Amino acid sequence: MTSFDIPKWYDLHTHFRQGEVLSAYIKAHLDMGCAGALAMPNTKPPTAAIFEANEGKYWSIERYRRDLLNAGADKFGELIIPLYLTKDTSINMIQSGAKSGHLKACKYYPPHGTTGAEFGAPLSEYIENGVLKAMEDEGVILCIHGEQHALGPDKYFDRNTNAEELFYQEDMPQLRDKFPNLKIVCEHITTKIAVDFVEESNANIVATITPQHLLYTIGDLIQGLKYHLYCLPVLKHCEDRAALQKAATSTQNTKFFAGTDSAPHAVKATECGCAAGCFTGGIAPQLYAMSFELAGLDLANASSQEIFKNFLCLNGANFYNLPIPQETFTLVKQPSKLEPLQTPNGEIIPLPLGLGLKTLPWSIKL
Ligand code: DOR
Ligand code: ZN
Repeated sequence: MTSFDIPKWYDLHTHFRQGEVLSAYIKAHLDMGCAGALAMPNTKPPTAAIFEANEGKYWSIERYRRDLLNAGADKFGELIIPLYLTKDTSINMIQSGAKSGHLKACKYYPPHGTTGAEFGAPLSEYIENGVLKAMEDEGVILCIHGEQHALGPDKYFDRNTNAEELFYQEDMPQLRDKFPNLKIVCEHITTKIAVDFVEESNANIVATITPQHLLYTIGDLIQGLKYHLYCLPVLKHCEDRAALQKAATSTQNTKFFAGTDSAPHAVKATECGCAAGCFTGGIAPQLYAMSFELAGLDLANASSQEIFKNFLCLNGANFYNLPIPQETFTLVKQPSKLEPLQTPNGEIIPLPLGLGLKTLPWSIKL
């Protein structure tokens, strides 16, 4: 039976939410071998202040960190909370936040472009007001949700273009030219155009890839309208998935790494649409292993295990300057049962269970 040990890993893009559900979501991450996480700031209100003393209408990183630590995140070795960029983010906040050690990264949300993105301002505002320059100078990392906003349906998603492709063709090259020393994580990329952009850029520009974008395409979502697969950016086409798989599984890969975008929603289907987000807490290494197999790698081979380790455990840690944990966990090619996660807000359905799978081919041993 194939089984291999790898270091505990960091999920460098996840949503833990807030309130009494926190501990269930954090535990699911601990149970899948996480030694740390980057916890997204699209809380309500958004985590758009740094210090508790200056919160105003927002939450601060200080407060959200305390809530997470109290709910079990103290068992992580590392916890990064990026600052949610809004029209109120200032140069002074970036400078004082970086000096205090509380600010390691900032998150750009396209205004109204996804769940909890209504406080985002257009990227051009942060170019004009000096916030991005201050980040570049202070070494603060920019986490980007790379989709153009306020597009009509013909540009948002059509045969020849979509919001992500336009962003990586029109906005990102300009950003890269203006701020050559700014460290940027292109988050949850979904298209070949985004892969190409990251590959042709220097080492300051890297990307996270989710399990669902490596495993599925828009066809999987549309056939039967399997709404558990609905996340943003939405799944794309076979050619895009192939480019993502190739990037993640290349022997030379130092730029592409795990960031699950695990995004639990107690209510997925609503009266007028569907909440965006796939819940993959508890099962992400198993899903990534499945995706490597789908890409043609045999994880019984030591060389494939090495590539998997780079993607899951090393590349992201190196980019964020996090220590590689001494502790390891084991992936075993042995079926594991899928169960809904019980939370105070009700049952959360892990993505594959929502697609009708009862088991996964891989298990984890901590
Ligand atoms: O699918 C998504 N869900 N994409 C995002 O950008 C946000 C996330 C969420 O918070 O639910
Ligand atoms: Zn996200």
